[in-house]
Amino acid sequence: MFRLDGRTALVTGAATGLGQAIALALAEAGADVAISDKPDVSLDETAEKLAASGRRVVKLGIDVRDLEQIRAGVKAAEHFGGLDIVVNNAGINRPLVGLEVTPENWDDHFATNVRGGFFVAQEAAKMMIPRGWGRIIFISSQSGLIGIPGQPVYCSSKGAIIQLVRTLGVEWAKHGLTVNSVAPTFVETNLTRKRLENPEFRAFVLGKIPAGKLATAEDVAAAVVYLASDEAEMVNATTLSVDGGWTAW
Ligand SMILES: NC(=O)c1ccc[n+]([C@@H]2O[C@H](COP(=O)([O-])OP(=O)(O)OC[C@H]3O[C@@H](n4cnc5c(N)ncnc54)[C@H](O)[C@@H]3O)[C@@H](O)[C@H]2O)c1
Repeated sequence: MFRLDGRTALVTGAATGLGQAIALALAEAGADVAISDKPDVSLDETAEKLAASGRRVVKLGIDVRDLEQIRAGVKAAEHFGGLDIVVNNAGINRPLVGLEVTPENWDDHFATNVRGGFFVAQEAAKMMIPRGWGRIIFISSQSGLIGIPGQPVYCSSKGAIIQLVRTLGVEWAKHGLTVNSVAPTFVETNLTRKRLENPEFRAFVLGKIPAGKLATAEDVAAAVVYLASDEAEMVNATTLSVDGGWTAW
């Protein structure tokens, strides 16, 4: 179960963190993988790790804030002969409390996390619909399901993704596509490391997770592989929490 042999995938923000782990897990499950990140960010580390999988790999520069780069990048991902799986992982979090949020901070989050992911999905869907099969998976966050003080803009952008997958999943189901998101709790990556080094913040986070530990990038990647698989055919327009129980209480 959960094999992806013969499938081709595109992962955004794949240079590091969750995106790198997702690319590795997709390849280990049998998929050929197009890894992408902003053009000035090196994908060499991810490509080197992927080499062991024996799958075909292509590196693409896609800044998801740029529609032309999205169009060219998604087209290039077809390089493998078709695109089956897209993982909208690229995202930013620049926390500011509500009273300090600037219009620029608001726009940066929505341009990357929501607008970027939406247009990657739209471009990919145009290729998937004629083929009658596709999996579009966003990395949302538990922050889209609950409010976390100090990050109103990030939480709003992730909540928007959760609404986006509900709507696109319903629109595109008749074409054989599913659109879902994975909502992780805290994982130690470049995005979170600094905040998690603060003992008070770490204690707050661990105190909220009934499992008593952070998630790992591999926990998140496993959920993505599941949603990408044939076995998840009837899982659509929903969000799978990987949060050790945080959002259940
Ligand atoms: N780490 C966590 O605790 C956590 C929890 C929940 C959700 N997430 C989400 O998971 C995703 C990955 O997070 P991470 O922790 O691996 O972060 P990270 O900062 O370690 O990696 C993010 C990657 O996205 C890339 N990126 C940023 N802006 C981009 C753009 N405009 N175009 C293309 N690529 C861009 C970065 O270059 C980087 O390689 C994000 O969407 C994040 O919101 C993370």
